[in-house]
This record gives sequence, C-alpha cells and structure tokens, in this order.
Amino acid sequence: MITVFDPKTDMDLGTPARESQVQVTLNIDGRSISVPEGTSVMRAAALLGTTIPKLCATDSLEAFGSCRMCLVEIDGMRGYPASCTTPVTEGMTVHTQTPKLATLRRNVMELYISDHPLDCLTCSANGNCELQTVAGQVGLREVRYGYEGENHLDDVKDTSNPYFDYDPSKCIVCNRCVRACEETQGTFALTITGRGFESRVAAAGGDNFLDSECVSCGACVQACPTATLMEKSVVELGQPERSVITTCAYCGVGCSFRAEMKGDQLVRMVPDKNGHANHGHSCVKGRFAWGYATHPDRITKPMIRKHINDPWQEVSWDEAVTYAASEFRRLQQKYGRDSIGGITSSRCTNEETYLVQKLVRAAFGNNNVDTCARVCHSPTGYGLKQTLGESAGTQSFDSVMQADVILVMGANPSDAHPVFASQLKRRLREGARLIVIDPRRIDLVDSVHARAELHLALRPGTNVAMLNALAHTIVTEGLLNQPFIDARCEGNDFARWSEFVSRAENSPEALGPVCGVEPADIRAAARLYATGGNAAIYYGLGVTEHSQGSTAVMGIANLAMVTGNIGREGVGVNPLRGQNNVQGSCDMGSFPHELPGYRHISNEVVRTQFEQAWNVTLQPDPGLRIPNMFESALAGSFKGLYCQGEDIAQSDPNTQHVTAALSAMECVVVQDIFLNETARFAHVFLPGASFLEKDGTFTNAERRISRVRKVMDPLGGKADWEGTVALANALGYPMNYKHPSEIMDEIASLTPTFTNVSYAALDSHGSLQWPCNAEAPDGTPTMHIEEFVRGKGRFMLTGYVPTEEKVNNRYPLLLTTGRILSQYNVGAQTRRTENVAWHDEDRLEIHPTDAESRGINEGDWVGIGSRAGQTVLRARVTERVAPGVVYTTFHFPESGANVITTDNSDWATNCPEYKVTAVEVSRVYHPSEWQKRYQAFSDEQDRLLKERRQARGAKAEVRR
Ligand code: SF4
Ligand code: SF4
Ligand code: SF4
Ligand code: FES
Repeated sequence: MITVFDPKTDMDLGTPARESQVQVTLNIDGRSISVPEGTSVMRAAALLGTTIPKLCATDSLEAFGSCRMCLVEIDGMRGYPASCTTPVTEGMTVHTQTPKLATLRRNVMELYISDHPLDCLTCSANGNCELQTVAGQVGLREVRYGYEGENHLDDVKDTSNPYFDYDPSKCIVCNRCVRACEETQGTFALTITGRGFESRVAAAGGDNFLDSECVSCGACVQACPTATLMEKSVVELGQPERSVITTCAYCGVGCSFRAEMKGDQLVRMVPDKNGHANHGHSCVKGRFAWGYATHPDRITKPMIRKHINDPWQEVSWDEAVTYAASEFRRLQQKYGRDSIGGITSSRCTNEETYLVQKLVRAAFGNNNVDTCARVCHSPTGYGLKQTLGESAGTQSFDSVMQADVILVMGANPSDAHPVFASQLKRRLREGARLIVIDPRRIDLVDSVHARAELHLALRPGTNVAMLNALAHTIVTEGLLNQPFIDARCEGNDFARWSEFVSRAENSPEALGPVCGVEPADIRAAARLYATGGNAAIYYGLGVTEHSQGSTAVMGIANLAMVTGNIGREGVGVNPLRGQNNVQGSCDMGSFPHELPGYRHISNEVVRTQFEQAWNVTLQPDPGLRIPNMFESALAGSFKGLYCQGEDIAQSDPNTQHVTAALSAMECVVVQDIFLNETARFAHVFLPGASFLEKDGTFTNAERRISRVRKVMDPLGGKADWEGTVALANALGYPMNYKHPSEIMDEIASLTPTFTNVSYAALDSHGSLQWPCNAEAPDGTPTMHIEEFVRGKGRFMLTGYVPTEEKVNNRYPLLLTTGRILSQYNVGAQTRRTENVAWHDEDRLEIHPTDAESRGINEGDWVGIGSRAGQTVLRARVTERVAPGVVYTTFHFPESGANVITTDNSDWATNCPEYKVTAVEVSRVYHPSEWQKRYQAFSDEQDRLLKERRQARGAKAEVRR
C-alpha cells in the first residue's frame, strides 16, 4: 500500500513531457539541467525539485498561461514570462525566487482570494486544495481589497450530477476543467462564458451538468485545483488517507486506478496517471460507479436449497461446499463423469478462471468448461489463430497515436471502451482519418472535432461481404503491399485468396447492394485504408457475434496482411474486448478444447505437462461448450453446473432455452456477488467477492496483465478463488494455495507466454503485456514484428454465406444490439449505482420512417417479435439507425432482449448471432407473455430470498 500521494510518481510537473532527440541545457537558480527540446521552464524546474507556484497549469494538460502565478525572471528577457508557457532554450538562465517575483505572485493571489469564500476549515478540499497550497507558498498574509466588493460568493451550486458538485463560488476560472474536457476526454462539454470578471464555467447543451453534453468522465473534477468541482463522496466522507493501486473491473480497457480509502471505506477512485492503459483518464463507470460493491443487495452468506421453489437456507461455507461437492459426486455416480461442468467468467481474475478450469479438468475429471467469451470474442480467438497464429490483439492502445487511418468496425468505443475512445479522438484531432463500418450512426461518426470521413452503414449480417468487397478493391486496383506479402505470408494461400477475392462476385458493385452500401463508398474506404499511411483496424462484437463471426475476423486479418498493416506501431488488428478480463479468461484455458496458453487438450506433450503438475489424468477430448451444456441438460445428460461470476440466464441468447436448461439441472452452483438471474435457478449460492475484496490480475484487450489489489476484506468471507479452493478440497482434489500469487506462479510455470510473469514483476513494471518470457522479459507491446507467431501469415478464404436469419413479410426489420456508456453488460453492477440517472431502461431505437408506418411515436410501448420470442420495450425514434434496422441495449433483465435473439451461432465457435435477428415491431399496451412470466418468477424468487432473511431476523429476535 502507498500513501495517497506518491511524490516519486504522482508529482505534478506542471506541463506535459516532450519527446525529442535534442537535449537543451539551462540553468535554474544556479543549477544546471538538460531536458528535451520543447520542455517548459516550469517542468524543467520541477524536475530539479524547484517548485514554481502555479494554478492554471498541470502536467496532464497543455499550458494555458492564464493565472500569472508562475512568473519567473529570465536573463536577457524582458518582463516576467510565465514559466508554464515559456519553452527552454540552450544556455537560458532562470530565476524562480526573487523579491520582485514574490511581490507579483502575492498580488495575484490576493486578487483570487478576495473573490473566494474563506471557509477552508469546513471546505471538502481542505488539505488537498491547490489554491490553499499556493497561498501558503507565496506567503499571502492579508487581503487589502476586502470582501465587500463585487464577487461570486453567492453563486448557486449545481448538484445535478449524481457524482460531483459544481460550486461556482469557489471557481478561479483557471480553465483546467475546460481543457480537461477537451484534451483528455474529447467531449468539449465545458466552456467559459462571459468575459473578465463575469467569466464562469458552463456545461454546454443543458441548464446543468446532468442535462448537458457531459458524459461524467470526471476528468474536469480531477483537474480542478479547488473545491469547485468535487466528488460528492469526498464531500460526504472527507479526504482519503491512503490509496491502493488497482485495476477497473468494468471494460477491456483495463484502466489503472488509485482506490483512495479512509479506514476501510472507499472514498473515491482516481485514475492512475502512471497507468499504461489509461494514462490518468477514466470513464463514468470506473471512476464513479463503484457503489454496487457495498450495495444492500449483496448476498454475503452461503445458501443452499433442494429445489428452486424452496426458500433459501443460510449455511456456513463448509456446509455449502460440502453439499455442492456431494451433489456433484452424486450426479456423476448416477449420470456419469461428464454430467457436470463449469463456467468461468471474464469478470473474475486470471487466477480465479484458471482455478475453475483446473477444478473442472482435475476434480470433475472432464473438460466441460467454457467461458462467457464463448458468447462474445471466441471468433477472435479462432480467426486470429488461423491467420496470424495468436488469439489476441496485436497492439497497445497507445499505438493508435501512430495511426494515420483508423477503421472502426462493429464497435462503439465511446460507449463501450470510453477511455480508448478519448485517445482515438485525440489522434483524429491530430489529423488521422476515420472509417466507420457499422449499421448504426455511432457517436464517432459525427462527434465534436472528430468525424468519420466514411461511414459505411451496412445491413446487419453482411460484414463478410463488406470485407470481401474491400479486399477485392485492394487486390484488383493493385493497392496491395507485395513486398510484405512475399516476405511474410504463405505464398500459396495468398495466391488462392487473391484469386478468390478478385472474382467479379466479390466486387463492391456485386456486394454493395447486398450490404446496402454504395459501391463507390466501399472503394473509397478500401483505397483510404490501403494507401493512407499507417492503418489500424479496431473491431468489436459487431464483427464477432454473427453466424460468420470467425470468417469476418479472418477477413480483417487478411486486409491487414494484404496491405502490410501489421507488425509495427500504428497499425494492426485490434479486438476491443467487452468485459474486463475477456482476454485473460481465454488465456487461462477456459475453453473446453484448450489448456492455458491456447494449447489443444489433445496435444499429448502439453497434457502430460499438466497431468504431472496437477497430479491427475486428464481427458484428451474436448468437453462441452456452453450451448452444448444447455442442449445436454434438456436431453437429460447434463445435470450439474458450477457457474462463477457469470449470468448466463440474462446474457446468453434465447432466454427461454437457457432457463429451461437450467431448470432441468439438479445442482446449479452459482458464485456471485448478487442473486443474479442465473442464481434464481440455483441450488447452492456461494457469495462472490467484488474486485475491491481480492488480489489477482486482469488482462485487458492489449494483452496487458495488471494487478487487482484487495482494499477491503471479502464481505462474504472468501475471495472467489478461495471458494473454488474450498470446493476442490471438498471434492477430494487438494488445492493448497495461500495467496493468488502462488496461482500465478503455477500459471507462469505451465504457460510459455507467461513464463516471466509474477506478482513481483508486475509490481516492478506496473503491468506487463504477454508474451512475457525469456525472449521478451519486459513483455510484448506489439506482436508479429519480424514474423507472425505462426511463422508465415496465412490468408484464409472468406466466402460470404448469408445468415439464415432473414427478413420476410412477417419479420421485416433487423434487430441489432449494443451497449451504452453508463451501463455495463447485464447491468448487475451499474444498475445498482447512480448510473441509472442516465439510463434506467433499455429502449428500442427505430428509424422515423419505420416508426411512422407503424404509428409508433417516441416513448410508445412497442412489442418486438422474432422467431424465438417476444418482448416489449419503449420506443426511441431516431435517425441513428437506418430504415429497416432497429437496435436495443440489453442491460435490464426485464427487457428480455435475449428472449428475441435466436439460437443461430458462428459456424466455428458457436458464438451466438446476437447482432442479427429478424423482427416485427408494433405498438402494444401490455407487457409480453414472457415478461409477465418473468415478473411472476422473479417475485417468487425474491420472496424465497426474503423468507431466508426473515428467518435470520426471527432468530435474532429469539436470541435477544
Ligand atoms: S471549475 Fe475548477 S478547474 Fe474549472 S475553471 Fe473553475 S477552478 Fe478552474
Ligand atoms: S465530467 Fe468529463 S465530460 Fe463532463 S464536463 Fe467534466 S470532463 Fe467534460
Ligand atoms: S469501464 Fe473501461 S474505460 Fe471505463 S474506467 Fe473502467 S476500464 Fe476504463
Ligand atoms: S501556471 Fe503558468 S500562467 Fe498559470
């Protein structure tokens, strides 16, 4: 643990670092220093340990030069230049402390203080306020102007944002918040209105912060040097006393945070400026939406019941795991070894997912283990392995800053990967060009100071056709990178592929109408991607969650190879992973056919290695995937499931099918922090631990392994890995780990890409990107530099096969799904935070023409029917979606978005086709039949949970 402020790493050097080969030497207060050309005098002084007072400058933002607090004297230069805006020059001699400067600074500070409420003792920033600190530094002792004149002391506070207040009476108009919103976040929501004394900060697009364009990232709050913008949690709880560096548990960006604590109470999350994935930035989820961790809905006692219509019985951990183990063994005796299995979660740590798959393989004795990545990025694993040889993205996020052309396909970074989106937008403001391929007009298509040059709004389900048409243009117009292909790729495969894509049937003219996109736009996109300099592809679930998800991933890899856009900074193939540890859960051997490190279970050499380490005999054949588990459950051969941290009843497609399968099982063990939708079908509930309650690691979308550090004890008594250890021991398979670091040591010893990973190495590096081994001891930011992991890159044929899910007269619209910034995945966490202020229900987006022809108005209840089922949502009429396409999010269980998605799935990996469902939409006045049934079942399960609670209360009464 470290203190709240670590001077070594957290010191604010005033202005951003500059990179230059040229070093400039200057003299500051009699001491010499050499810094890169372009560095400010202020930063050079700070590097020498000399503090120059400052208010408007901070090293996360470009210098602005407005407060006049940082004046210095420079030999040969007239006047008193601001050190923050003055770059160093060779031989410069600077004086930072002179009697004249002291007087000037005191005078400036006097003016600030004369319009500032002097309530320091009761102010929430007391002890952590730059204005207070600088007043002390300049030695201000009196204010000659009095406080009676014109001032802003009665300005009204804006408390509309659920997480932070804006108190204009404390504002010194330093502009840091405005610049943070522009430079760091890229939203441009703040502005300074008025001039001179009338200047005030205002949020654009609304009367207050909540109604404005602000996306609540908190960058302005972090940048504010006073208590003007302040977290409500700090106002309520006071300034923190200590902090612990940990990793966000939401999305695949994997932002690093300082969890700032007061005793055992989390006071605030502050993005870590040394975090390699986020560089001190965050989004609303990671920074503010952590209240779920101590929400009253947390279940903190193990529970068991015989049938799912029985009330829950609270029991000890011992009783719960003993009962679960005896049930699992009973089922295996009765129905066979393969009648049970486990599901790991991308929300849990690497160590936890590793243990669950180990428990299944070693203690259950089968390979029936799968992970939620099955339903999101399994096609990435397959497609990239086939073409490039490794199931992972090729770049660091920082690589985007070297990209000249950025192609975003089937991803919505500003909502789903917000901190990366901010970086991407920064690169766009620097001049990079953007192509968006998405059925929906996502924010990036037209955001402030960042616009897509081309938006190919393709019809859902036509990704592969689009990729083939792009490849056709590149090959037939001679835009390929032949030297790269000759040197780096399999010649025969390339010849076969290039003949295939060159066929007329793959031309934009043939496939443009299939995609619903002008052929000329496809050609323009292909030319820009192939010839615009460094070109990088970022893609998401809009690529993978299709019946041809794996084909599309291979098509993307083909594009990168044919243009030579792989193996260096600024290019590459970058899957944006949805949950925090999707990459990690895949790396850890969660798939039924692969041991950790993506090695096939049938490989005898590898299997023997694990058998020796684990002291068991492993089955050589792959086990059941999640959809196969459901089918086998309905067929009567799969009877028991251990599900850690995953909510398959809400997140998997065709909800009725999933719930029927769960109902058919005899022992469902759910380990989670809440009684989630799946737990309503469970027989054993093991209390899970939030990311604040355990040690471990997450691996983000750029293969970056970062530490998760415990800041408080598990509310349920055990971290998730400890629950798995207890279950394994109860099953008679000994596990004796004392700390997750020992689990990581075992992973490293068995996984070639993790050989040099250890908690000690992570602590010293901050984070490490795998492969991290003898060849790459400090990790691997960019992959496939000299050669592909598989040796030569392999072009794969990507014939376009239209999905079976087709529109017809009965189902004339195509439904596609996605995420929204304020909510996360199934919403179990974010629904239990103030984030509901922005999104408290899932809505159906429908184009005005489709709405009009059906008599649907904004806010109307509409029934959405597909071949799989029906649900009802309220309508949002918007041109964000094209005619013929409707869209919804899936963050609320009662929405039943997955009641309508079908069983169709990717041919290679079974990843569900969430993104294409043929539907009809009509105005209705009642919930759907499914929603009525869902409500009744939920009410009953809530009652059964409540009875358990009442029983506990009654016992307590008796004891008293
Ligand atoms: S709100 Fe804070 S950061 Fe913004 S201008 Fe006022 S004092 Fe500066
Ligand atoms: S919270 Fe973020 S988006 Fe909102 S005003 Fe501040 S910097 Fe801008
Ligand atoms: S949700 Fe993602 S972008 Fe937001 S803070 Fe967490 S890791 Fe970063
Ligand atoms: S810190 Fe330099 S002018 Fe404000």
